Amino acid sequence: MIQSVKGTKDILPDSIAQWQFLENQFRIVSAKYGYREIRTPVFEKTEVFSRGIGEETDIVNKEMYTFADRNGDLLTLRPEMTAPLVRAVIQNNLLEANPTLKLWYAGPLLRYERPQKGRMRQFHQYGAECIGTVNPEADVELLLLADCLIKSVGIQEYRLLLNTLGNDNVRLIYKNELINYLSKFKEELSEESKNRLDKNPLRVLDSKHPADAQIIAGAPQILDFLDEESASHFNFVRGSLDALNIKYEITPRLVRGLDYYCHTVFEFQSSALGAQDSFGGGGRYNKLFEELGGKACPAVGFAFGIERILIILEAINKLPQISDTVHVSIINLDVKNFVYAQNIAEQLRAKGLNVACDLQRRSMKAQMREANRLNVKYAIIIGPDEVEKQTMILKNMSDASQREIGISEINSLEI
Ligand code: HAM
Repeated sequence: MIQSVKGTKDILPDSIAQWQFLENQFRIVSAKYGYREIRTPVFEKTEVFSRGIGEETDIVNKEMYTFADRNGDLLTLRPEMTAPLVRAVIQNNLLEANPTLKLWYAGPLLRYERPQKGRMRQFHQYGAECIGTVNPEADVELLLLADCLIKSVGIQEYRLLLNTLGNDNVRLIYKNELINYLSKFKEELSEESKNRLDKNPLRVLDSKHPADAQIIAGAPQILDFLDEESASHFNFVRGSLDALNIKYEITPRLVRGLDYYCHTVFEFQSSALGAQDSFGGGGRYNKLFEELGGKACPAVGFAFGIERILIILEAINKLPQISDTVHVSIINLDVKNFVYAQNIAEQLRAKGLNVACDLQRRSMKAQMREANRLNVKYAIIIGPDEVEKQTMILKNMSDASQREIGISEINSLEI
């Protein structure tokens, strides 16, 4: 038997209603905040990600599914959607008509990671991006959207971790401070952190190596290096969140795993998740448009991991229980009358009803058993007599009452 690829999962019919429920909430809530949906291809030229996310990140370094196609072009299955979305906005001139553009997306992503609960090689995200303004109002409104989405799917408790990475200048000064500090411990750092020390010292703060933990705990904090512009942006965000009653925790070492961020960065965590406790994250990215060859344009966004939201809902017992609905079962007693039965089914479907017909040539008893299993409101029984008279027996399954009706009555039937 051929197995699915490690780290991927089939979403089976029994759980599809949960996905549709989430997708519906995403659509409804995004519209409330003025966000419109965008769908981009599942693969892109590799440079969209190598330039966009940063060469020294885990994603670009070790997690991308990259291949040369038959033409020799280097392509990558998307590991995230922000860079492709920016590529699409530039290419389609979407900013020409809209000085601020609010877009959302949902779809599959691929990262070559070590699979474990909540960490897959193909997973799904919902994301939202507010493009076209440097103002912190956008950061705040986006966090309101995130809060509304989280609550709309049934999660009441979560933690919002908040930090700022300041502007370019602040980061430059801070990076030097960090290099000075970390260099003192160079020999004690993990191999990976040692390698990153000079090229991308912020990544060291993200290290999960036990060897690095204590050193990182004593590292200087970026909050102590903010200039006026960076402090004023961050204070606006904090002040507004306080006043709007959105709870957050300042987390000075939160740097996120992608290089495009500046100013506000944040993550959503839930104690209902295990080791992978982050179910979403995002922040401001004011340089990505230029990195990808567009005109300078500031933006801010976030993404949720949909599988992780489902894990939380399961843990807190809030997974929506929605079953498929079948309204009518057609019980046909003789295969000779198959077309007669299908014609009735088609008329009912045209009225908007979901109709099941037997395809197994089962006995009447077995067909009735199936109708009960499907929990239909009505069964329509067709025997030779009914075909002869151009009628059918309509059986109400809740009280077992039944009556004969003519074919011509289907249109006026209230089911
Ligand atoms: P990210 O933090 O890499 O950010 O991913 C966002 C979320 O996707 C994570 O918090 C997690 O819930 C989910 N996720 C990531 N990797 C996996 C995985 N291997 N298996 C299951 N779930 C996973 C981004 O992707 C940015 N593009 C977010 C963003 C949007 N920033 C600005 N705009």
